[in-house]
Amino acid sequence: MTAATKTRIITEVPGPRSREIAELKAEFVSRSVSPALPVYIASAEGSVLTDVDGNEFIDFGSGIGVTSLGHVNEAAVAAAIEQSKRFTHTLFSVTPYELYVQVARRLAGITPGNFAKKSVLSSTGAEAIENAIKIARSHTRRNGIAVVDHAYHGRTNLTLGLNFKASPYSTGAGPRPGEIYRAVNSYPFRDGLSGVEAAKRAIAYWEKTAGVENLACLLIEPIQGEGGIILPAEGFLETLQAWCREQGIVIIADEIQTGLGRTGALFASEHFGFEPDLVATAKAIAAGYPLSAVTGRAEIMDAMPAGGLSGTFSGNPVACAAAIEILDQLEAEGAMSRAVAVGERIQAGLRELQAQYPSLIGDVRGLGALHGIELVNADGSPNAAAQAALSRAAIERGLLLLGGGSDGQVLRMLPAINISDELIDEALAILGECLAAL
Ligand SMILES: Cc1ncc(COP(=O)(O)O)c(C=O)c1O
Repeated sequence: MTAATKTRIITEVPGPRSREIAELKAEFVSRSVSPALPVYIASAEGSVLTDVDGNEFIDFGSGIGVTSLGHVNEAAVAAAIEQSKRFTHTLFSVTPYELYVQVARRLAGITPGNFAKKSVLSSTGAEAIENAIKIARSHTRRNGIAVVDHAYHGRTNLTLGLNFKASPYSTGAGPRPGEIYRAVNSYPFRDGLSGVEAAKRAIAYWEKTAGVENLACLLIEPIQGEGGIILPAEGFLETLQAWCREQGIVIIADEIQTGLGRTGALFASEHFGFEPDLVATAKAIAAGYPLSAVTGRAEIMDAMPAGGLSGTFSGNPVACAAAIEILDQLEAEGAMSRAVAVGERIQAGLRELQAQYPSLIGDVRGLGALHGIELVNADGSPNAAAQAALSRAAIERGLLLLGGGSDGQVLRMLPAINISDELIDEALAILGECLAAL
């Protein structure tokens, strides 16, 4: 039992004020918007959230990978405030401004691949995915989209069709869009295949069911996030890449969760020698201000006619100002090595816990500040109940964790990439207590 566990939590969880707001929420907010955790947040700083009852939580979620350089990132917030005083909106596709162009220039410099690149900015991750697919289809004049199981790409109508899980995202929402071909992913913990074997299996499926001449793009997360922090076996992405190049299929990397430093490299693709034609980014790009992008080969990015992309809030100037600051911090010396060190410390702690609870923790996996533990039953099957119980026990002790995995069997950890060693150790101690209590 750590001393900090006792002092961070001062009421029952949720506390009385959180419960009051939850009642209002039940009356006025759609039931379809359903918070995973029961506490309402009043303020946040660095890697700690404080709720409306004064309880503190070590944040191992970062709003699902958004506040990667800490909550209320001082310089990014200052840049956003300064920009807010100049102008908050003009609409880039009516009266443009330089910040948008500068964000695009910076993204061209840091995304994988040494070729001329262009970007289109938008507001959300799903919107970036929609844009990437429009661009790939327009460039190739083909329709098919190759995806893999366990993937998650958003909650808009097209992205519903790209997701693996139908429930709850598509439930009752009408027909899912067509021309989407979903093959089995590489999942080393579950399939025991080499990356090349898993890639050949997927390619054979797509060739049979879609026909290569019909495939516009392959859309893939280099490491799956919602799917349960699934790292593909070595050789998987490289083999898919070689096949796509041969067949003229545009490769789109969804780096919305994995990009911008999360894995200890600016892009997770870099760990695998993966060089996508287009990269979708969002989440961590602007310190919590809504901004997303597709960045890729200039000749592909120009495929749609003038006016074919953009929207009212796309590339909002306040978000762009914050993004420039965040990109500076990500590119600063030591930023990625800190993310690597964070990952090593978390992984070492998780492996110790796995050694203590080998029949419950089936797998520990991740890179940098993106980790997951897969919880299993005695027969090795997914153990969603343990994940739910551990998440609940952790929040009651002052640690915010995320669930994940197509069966809800994975505990996901996405702390800030600059979180302190002290907070990592405290979080791991709390997780240890929760496991002991289970
Ligand atoms: C890999 C991935 N793609 C797309 C999205 C959708 O992003 P957004 O929720 O901003 O639309 C998410 C969100 O969690 C994601 O993790």
